[in-house]
Amino acid sequence: MPSTASMRPLSASASGPLAGTVRVPGDKSISHRAVMLGALAIGDTRIAGLLEGEDVLATVNAMRAFGANVRKDADGTWLITGVGVGGLLEPEGVVDFGNAGTGVRLAMGLAGSHAFATTFVGDASLSRRPMGRVIEPLRRMGAEVLARSGDRLPLTVKGADLAIPIEYRVPVPSAQVKSAVLLAGLNTPGTTTVIEPVLTRDHTERMLQAFGATVETDVAEDGARIIRLEGRPDLKPQSITVPGDPSSAAYPIVAALIVPGSEVRVGGVLLNPTRTGLIETLIEMGADVAIENRSTIGGESVGDIRVRASRLRGVTVPAARAPSMIDEYPVLAVAAAYAEGDTVMEGLAELRVKESDRLAAIAAGLAANGVEVDEGPETLTVSGKGKVAGGGTVQTHFDHRIAMSFLVLGLNAERPVTVDDVTPIATSFPDFMQLMGGLGAAFGEISAAA
Ligand code: S3P
Repeated sequence: MPSTASMRPLSASASGPLAGTVRVPGDKSISHRAVMLGALAIGDTRIAGLLEGEDVLATVNAMRAFGANVRKDADGTWLITGVGVGGLLEPEGVVDFGNAGTGVRLAMGLAGSHAFATTFVGDASLSRRPMGRVIEPLRRMGAEVLARSGDRLPLTVKGADLAIPIEYRVPVPSAQVKSAVLLAGLNTPGTTTVIEPVLTRDHTERMLQAFGATVETDVAEDGARIIRLEGRPDLKPQSITVPGDPSSAAYPIVAALIVPGSEVRVGGVLLNPTRTGLIETLIEMGADVAIENRSTIGGESVGDIRVRASRLRGVTVPAARAPSMIDEYPVLAVAAAYAEGDTVMEGLAELRVKESDRLAAIAAGLAANGVEVDEGPETLTVSGKGKVAGGGTVQTHFDHRIAMSFLVLGLNAERPVTVDDVTPIATSFPDFMQLMGGLGAAFGEISAAA
């Protein structure tokens, strides 16, 4: 956690209509994976539109520590000279992933099938998050892992000399766990199988295929997805264009919905169906949202999202939709606060183990700003009244999505909404304040609390 002195509070006030066309930074999930697979291909992978947030830069540094050459060209694209599957080297120091849960969990997978020791560390938030969900399958594959109590960071992975291919049924809906096992399976002879009862984002499978790996997906009778990866492929370097991150697009989209008279376009956003649960939900709530210029870039569906201010009504968001919008609940709760009626969000257990306990952080932030909210063990009910009093200060708990969501809350509130620290926003959306300011959002610096 940053000390109070390094925290940067900011307030958001009622703003005039938001207007304009923007592009949000590259998708975080795809950016992490592109850097990692580029490091495992033999030859040069070029990446355009890489998210240059702190989380992905931690992955860049990690892959350098594992022996890949990663650099940024003058034209802004990134070039990665990979070492080949099985060719990673033992890092000389500890590998620091900062705040990045995806980065560390996927890299643990890579380390799990390389016969050397890697010590992973992270910031205070990451050091509280559960790693047992990745440690367990890696041990089954033959890796040794020594972790702090509660299976937390710092931890050391001593990869298997010859990893064992496993069939692994993921116990929690988690793309990170699925991906960690698949990435460990890359340097494992034979077929590694992951069974996921609930479909989660599938960027790892798609990108592995694009790099030339053999990945087959079947659907079992009970609806579970069975993903089979043939180990030890030769990955071929790719040219990748990273689409805009729908989880970042969510902030200007919800802001435009709640500020009267607004009309905003977000261009080039990833529309993979495993990521579009928020758009689906907002449309059910009555949002005037349209998708334009759909196309396919690098095997992923992409389009522009046009949104106009709308009267929203409360809806029930089923648990089955949670994986396709897992990072969007904080900002959905903001939309729900401006809606009329109850919005009931179900199946949110995983929100408790994100960058913060997001269920608790959302509930506390809304309550501090006069919004009626009920927090259950795995549910959240927001009773919208069509308007928000504001006037409260929100604790972000070093969570970028809590900070951005509550700044959006302030944009139509009767009194300003203050967040205690905007520094974590740099992990995923470094230009957030500038981009939102360009649309007309009124953000005001306030002096740090003494
Ligand atoms: C991610 C998966 C999700 C998501 C995270 C990114 C990924 O986490 O919350 O921001 O890129 O695989 P879980 O796998 O823990 O659900």
